[in-house]
Amino acid sequence: MDFGIKGKHALVCAASRGLGFAIAKALAQEGVDLIISARDEEKLNEAAEALRKLANVKVDYVAGDLSVEADRKKLIEFAREKSGGLDILVHNVGGPKAQAAQSTNSADWQEAFDKLFLPIVDLNQTFLPGMKEKKWGRIITVTSLSVIEPIANLALSNGIRSAVTAMLKTLSDEVAQDGITVNCLAPGLIQTARTDELMESRRQLTGQSKEEYMSDYVASIPAKRLGDADEFGAVAAFLASMQAQYVTGQTICIDGGKRRSVH
Ligand SMILES: NC(=O)c1ccc[n+]([C@@H]2O[C@H](COP(=O)([O-])OP(=O)(O)OC[C@H]3O[C@@H](n4cnc5c(N)ncnc54)[C@H](OP(=O)(O)O)[C@@H]3O)[C@@H](O)[C@H]2O)c1
Repeated sequence: MDFGIKGKHALVCAASRGLGFAIAKALAQEGVDLIISARDEEKLNEAAEALRKLANVKVDYVAGDLSVEADRKKLIEFAREKSGGLDILVHNVGGPKAQAAQSTNSADWQEAFDKLFLPIVDLNQTFLPGMKEKKWGRIITVTSLSVIEPIANLALSNGIRSAVTAMLKTLSDEVAQDGITVNCLAPGLIQTARTDELMESRRQLTGQSKEEYMSDYVASIPAKRLGDADEFGAVAAFLASMQAQYVTGQTICIDGGKRRSVH
């Protein structure tokens, strides 16, 4: 199926590896020109090179920490200059610290808010007017299954990502008539560098060995395996497609069936 987005411009945040890179890959395969970002410039250069080899698309990159306002400004200026105006905006960033709710303080919440919430606000404010003018745009945000079912020891993710989801749902209502869709992708457990970190923080609560914990966890997923990053990227590319024009305001779980609620 041709997704009809060849020649569009996308910014994929936090895309030097993992889910962000998989999204960038899937968009590149659809002929989308890319700007990617993350903190480590060398890794970004390697990722950009890999994407250029994979598909005949333009790939630019800019290094910076999304939780730092000055770096966000740099990213915004760079993306404006390189694209002239984005068609597809993918929000993603590294996860917050693993903490129990009772061990968090206001500084922890501020840090998580600066990282997970504010970059979305700044980037949307910048690129929405251009999308509205074109009457076409795609905003896709990587969240977590934690917005559906809070995950133990991930209080910051549970709280701030739920706020992100509510804010984006509100935005989706406001811009649907302008041809702009706003959706979230909630990964269950997809194999990336972050997976080991996440599993380790949860395993510590159970006292199980790593092997025992993983085996129990995988048994709880109807698909009986972890997800693959490319499977995740493919869903993002579909949401960016022409065909997905009527899908907006949704959280799509990519979790092998792990989510237990019907709606
Ligand atoms: N994988 C899963 O199963 C899963 C499940 C639920 C939620 N999630 C969430 O999905 C997001 C992506 O996860 P992942 O598995 O792809 O993680 P990952 O493999 O660790 O990749 C994270 C990416 O984000 C970049 N990054 C991290 N902090 C950043 C910052 N402050 N500013 C800019 N870039 C930053 C990293 O590059 P640099 O280090 O160079 O900056 C890297 O490119 C995370 O928020 C994670 O919590 C993942």
